[in-house]
Parts: sequence; C-alpha cells; structure tokens
Amino acid sequence: MKDSIVAALKEADGPVSGELLAGRLGVSRAALWKHMEGLRAAGYVIDGSPKVGYRLMSEPDLILASALSSLLPAEFKEKVVRVDEADSTNTLAKELASSGRLGPVGLVVAESQTGGRGRFGRRWHSPHGGIWFSLVIRPRLSVREAGVVPLLASVVTAEAVAEATGLDVRIKWPNDLLIEGKKVAGILTELAAELGEIDYLVVGVGLNANVSFDELGDSDLAATTLMDETGRAVARPQLIAKIVNRFLSDLAGLPKDVDKMLTRWRERSATLGRTVTVTAAGEGFTGEAVDLDSEGGLIVVDKAGTRRVFRAGEVTLGERV
Ligand code: BTN
Repeated sequence: MKDSIVAALKEADGPVSGELLAGRLGVSRAALWKHMEGLRAAGYVIDGSPKVGYRLMSEPDLILASALSSLLPAEFKEKVVRVDEADSTNTLAKELASSGRLGPVGLVVAESQTGGRGRFGRRWHSPHGGIWFSLVIRPRLSVREAGVVPLLASVVTAEAVAEATGLDVRIKWPNDLLIEGKKVAGILTELAAELGEIDYLVVGVGLNANVSFDELGDSDLAATTLMDETGRAVARPQLIAKIVNRFLSDLAGLPKDVDKMLTRWRERSATLGRTVTVTAAGEGFTGEAVDLDSEGGLIVVDKAGTRRVFRAGEVTLGERV
C-alpha cells in the first residue's frame, strides 16, 4: 500500500484529494490517513489539508521495489525483493533462488546488511545509503564460459557509475572498482551448479554510494564513497537499473561478444601495465600484469620471464611499468 500511495502522489504531480485517492486505492479515508502518517514517520514529507488534499513534497532516500521494477524489463515484475535490512543479499538471493521464488531472474536489494560478505570471506560494511544488491540469473553458459561474468559485472558497474557521476572509475582485476586508487565497489559472484551445469548465478554488487567514509566502520583506508568523491547523492534506483539493464543486455551477447567485453574491461583497467602481486592459494607472485587472456584470466610475467595466468586471486597494485 505504501508503494501505491507514493506512486499515486508522484503521478499526480500536485495535490490530490483524499476522497479521490482513497477511492482509487480502495481504502477508507481513515485508513488512508493512517497510511499517510506511516509514510511521514518513514521520512516522506507530505503536505495535507482537507481542502486541497495531499501533496508529496519530498521523499526519503529509499529504494522502493515498485519504483525499481518499473525501470527494469517486464520479466522483473514481482521479482524485485526489497528489504530494509538483510544479513547478506547474496545469502537471501540464494535462498529465494533455491526455493524457486526467484527465477529465471530476480533482484534482491537491501537498504543495509548486517552480515555483508566480500571475497575471501571478508566482511563488507553495508550501512544505509549504499547500494547493496544481488542479481539472480540463469544464463545459458557453461561453467567455464561463465567465468567472465564477474568481469562483465565490473565493466557495466564502472561504466554506469562513471556516467552517473562523471568520475574516472577504474577496475582492479578481477572486479574491484577504484576511484583514484581507492575502492568504491566490489562484486561477489556465487554459482550454484549441478552435474557441471549452471543452475543459477548470484551477482552481488556492493557500491559505497550515498554514505560517507566514516560510516564504513573499520574499513581500510584505501576505500572511498561516491558521496565523498562528488559531494552529492546519486539517485540509487536509477543507478541500480542502469547497472542491471546494461548487465542483462551484455550478458545476452555472451559468449559470442566476449572479446568486445574484455576490450571494455581493458579500457577501464587499473591493473594492466603495472607491477602487481597476485596472491592465490596463500602464495604471492610478483610481475607485470601484461594482459587478459580470452577467458578473462590475468597474465603476469615476472622479471625472470616466467609467465603465469591467474583465474582467481587477490591483486596488490604496484608501480606503473
Ligand atoms: C568484495 O569486493 O570483496 C566483494 C563485495 C561484495 C559486496 C556485495 S553487497 C551485496 C552483496 N551481498 C553481499 O553479502 N555481498 C555482496
């Protein structure tokens, strides 16, 4: 009901009489008044007078499921799950996908997470104001072909953020988003497969959007937020939709267009042409990051000329070569 009232007030773009609104929504005027009080308590500023009616003056910075699904393809109708607080949207998305509630696509968005998860079992701080979502997809790709999906997610997220903010967003292999060397977003992709075939993928995107660095808890000093970089808030539903829509249309082109996607990744790279240390399975390897291979693996050549290709691992950036 909250969503419908807000949608009706926005559509009216001016005062709407209580009688008209109650009639349209099929509730009594007393019930409508109660809902209005609830919305005000949630941060909506709604002018109301018996003569003129109700008028929406401003909204809290919240993501509404209805607003978001109206910006996404029709297949997302009833497939956007928005919660105030989740343990982890990836965990919730997996539960919903396994139980059949989400599919063939679905989107889980939380205003905040209490147990946000990063790569390598790290904690991901997720206070109110950020963008924390998990997209469920069932792509027609083999497990091997799906190896580039995290890179695709990083490319589309970087491009969408750059367009929305004008910032120079770069990618640290495989999928960390950096602004002037500081991490602004991360991606955690999880796969459910059976007999070697993908059942579904959960692509979790965490973007420090309308939050300040101080709200990120004990995050390391090499982090930043869009708010700190630009001094203003982004429209979160629009930005989420831009990321998701671009991701889905590019995903449909895989595996055919993988080279084009990898070219876009290279153009946004903060990794290639630098000395890097890649830590994988507890072991570090230092050399120049020279390129990606055709499956998105990172090719590193050390001083002795030893060439290694990494499919997973943590990169520490060094000097430009
Ligand atoms: C990383 O850089 O380590 C990946 C961070 C991924 C965080 C996002 S926030 C939404 C989704 N839910 C989670 O618990 N994690 C991902």
